Amino acid sequence: MTTFKINGRQVSVKAPEDSPLLWAIRDEIGLKGSKFGCGIGQCGACTVHLDGQAIRSCVTPVAAVAGRAITTIEGLDPKGAHPLQTAWIEAQVPQCGYCQSGQIMQAAALLTTTPHPSDAQIDDAMNGNLCRCMAYVRIKQAIKLAARGKTGAHA
Ligand code: FES
Ligand code: FES
Repeated sequence: MTTFKINGRQVSVKAPEDSPLLWAIRDEIGLKGSKFGCGIGQCGACTVHLDGQAIRSCVTPVAAVAGRAITTIEGLDPKGAHPLQTAWIEAQVPQCGYCQSGQIMQAAALLTTTPHPSDAQIDDAMNGNLCRCMAYVRIKQAIKLAARGKTGAHA
């Protein structure tokens, strides 16, 4: 058993210690917001926070998070009204939606360390999060909206 916190709740999972964290999150804990894309740390669909930092849960073994705190898209904001989530709706970002929780979690980690990122800082931080629907322009727009506090959450 590996014990850790997820979205503020203490959990113990039975998954083998070398099992990807993503499997434990989706299959044992039942939180389906984090997605499986590539499974090799190359697309960002599985991005969650480990002690506030964005990580790829598909290549993070369960053992690595013992005693630590994970946040998934479901726990980013109690009401689903994180400034990024509000901005995402305002900018109508998603198309198919598959990559979106990973995009938001990656962007949220960026805004925590860099509340007012430059274009280059956004590009750099979001570089590893792929979107097959090519929503990149709207993703960037939404991050800027959230950073400027120009969303419903801040109105
Ligand atoms: S599924 Fe984890 S990076 Fe692609
Ligand atoms: S919205 Fe479809 S993959 Fe990004």
